[in-house]
Amino acid sequence: MGNKRSSELMLFCLFFAALCLKAFTTGITIYCPSQKLNWTDARLYCQRNHIDLVTWNVVNTSQLAKFLVGIKVQQAWIGLLRDPENATVWKWINVKSGTGISGDDLSQSSYWAHGEPSSNCAFVKEDLKWHSVTCSDAHDFYCSEKENTYYHNNSLNWHNASQYCKNESDGDLATITITNTDELKKPGLIGLYRQAGETWSWIGQQTSDYRNWAHGEPLTADCGSFYLENVTWHSSKCSDKLSFVCYDDDMVVVNENKTWEGALRHCRGMGTQCEDSLKPCTYLYDLLSLNVLSNYVIDRIYRATTDEVWTGLRFLGGEWWWADGEQLGDQGMLPDCLSQRKHCGTLSKYDTKNWITRDCSERRNFVCYKLFKERS
Ligand SMILES: *[C@@H]1O[C@H](CO)[C@@H](O)[C@H](O)[C@H]1NC(C)=O
Ligand SMILES: *[C@@H]1O[C@H](CO)[C@@H](O)[C@H](O)[C@H]1NC(C)=O
Ligand SMILES: *[C@@H]1O[C@H](CO)[C@@H](O)[C@H](O)[C@H]1NC(C)=O
Ligand SMILES: *[C@@H]1O[C@H](CO)[C@@H](O)[C@H](O)[C@H]1NC(C)=O
Ligand SMILES: *[C@@H]1O[C@H](CO)[C@@H](O)[C@H](O)[C@H]1NC(C)=O
Ligand SMILES: *[C@@H]1O[C@H](CO)[C@@H](O)[C@H](O)[C@H]1NC(C)=O
Ligand SMILES: *[C@@H]1O[C@H](CO)[C@@H](O)[C@H](O)[C@H]1NC(C)=O
Ligand SMILES: *[C@@H]1O[C@H](CO)[C@@H](O)[C@H](O)[C@H]1NC(C)=O
Repeated sequence: MGNKRSSELMLFCLFFAALCLKAFTTGITIYCPSQKLNWTDARLYCQRNHIDLVTWNVVNTSQLAKFLVGIKVQQAWIGLLRDPENATVWKWINVKSGTGISGDDLSQSSYWAHGEPSSNCAFVKEDLKWHSVTCSDAHDFYCSEKENTYYHNNSLNWHNASQYCKNESDGDLATITITNTDELKKPGLIGLYRQAGETWSWIGQQTSDYRNWAHGEPLTADCGSFYLENVTWHSSKCSDKLSFVCYDDDMVVVNENKTWEGALRHCRGMGTQCEDSLKPCTYLYDLLSLNVLSNYVIDRIYRATTDEVWTGLRFLGGEWWWADGEQLGDQGMLPDCLSQRKHCGTLSKYDTKNWITRDCSERRNFVCYKLFKERS
């Protein structure tokens, strides 16, 4: 018993050593690394060095525009992606799990530039080669009717053109094969369109493996970028190398399993020089101390490998304290009579409302957060 008491006293002293630091809330910082990468590599870069590519949960249009003006970047990748399972749907990346997409369909959002987001349809240009174009643009077109191909000098978008072919002749937009390719003598839409992901297919009954793409075609536009010039979203080819914007916050989810005390030592052993301040300073770390539980924090701990993570919550001298020396605002949230040695607080990935009390010697992941300290 005596040993336990003195170790608790030591911890109490450790707590107050942190008091001179200025605590930040979950402040978000956005970054635009100097290199240009394709979308996939950009997302990987953000996840390795920060948290993820930016989404609208993190930064709104005007903030992002202001940031890009400041660093003179015209176009940058953001965390917006076409649904690989449904070409008409666009969603934000899932930052909680770190893979895939989540949330509502954004394809109707007013943030898209005019005519975006484009689906891809095939169009024969003056060079008689095939090019991918926005399906909503109106062009002349070719219909197939049985074995024959007919040119229609009648500007319609791809969908209406397909309807027109059906109405006129019970055919559809033309399927092009090696045998009828010579009938394409003028610019016009043909029946090839991109369904989802990378797959192009013919609308008509007939299929054909024949392709006559122009050099560099077909374009595939499955990734969202932000254009500074008109403050809009564009669908861009994922393999394009563009600037990109990552975000970070003041938290670090450590995927190591430690006791509460081990976690506290780990956080306090971390430290980085800061480069973004005029005054000499250091970043120090402590176990997460937050009086308000937000969904943001719960989402952030989702990538922990344990169901719960240690926070800086500790029961000492009959009361609950945070590692930064603040008392828990609402003591009633947690028990004050602890029979089961549950003297330390955790957060669960699956419970957004409550702090949970646990035996401090259990081992689990934990969350450190960054504190700013000016050096004299
Ligand atoms: C963007 O965020 C800033 C800061 O939170 C806020 O002042 C501004 O009103 C927001 N703008 C829009 C368009 O939501
Ligand atoms: C794609 O999403 C749209 C809009 O949510 C929906 O109307 C359509 O049925 C979906 N298509 C497929 C193949 O799931
Ligand atoms: C936005 O700017 C880009 C680049 O100049 C241009 O291609 C696009 O058409 C513009 N969109 C709108 C809605 O003005
Ligand atoms: C389409 O028809 C218009 C007049 O109806 C004509 O001026 C134009 O040259 C035609 N275009 C082609 C490609 O035949
Ligand atoms: C295509 O059809 C839609 C209705 O389905 C109509 O609103 C649009 O104006 C048509 N576009 C053209 C180019 O005819
Ligand atoms: C095709 O026929 C349908 C039904 O008759 C009509 O509503 C539609 O406007 C026609 N579309 C075109 C592009 O001619
Ligand atoms: C992005 O670049 C990497 C190589 O750096 C390549 O392996 C990957 O296929 C590219 N992804 C896309 C979508 O172009
Ligand atoms: C931590 O514990 C969890 C759950 O028991 C386990 O899945 C994970 O692999 C452990 N992590 C390390 C780094 O040992």
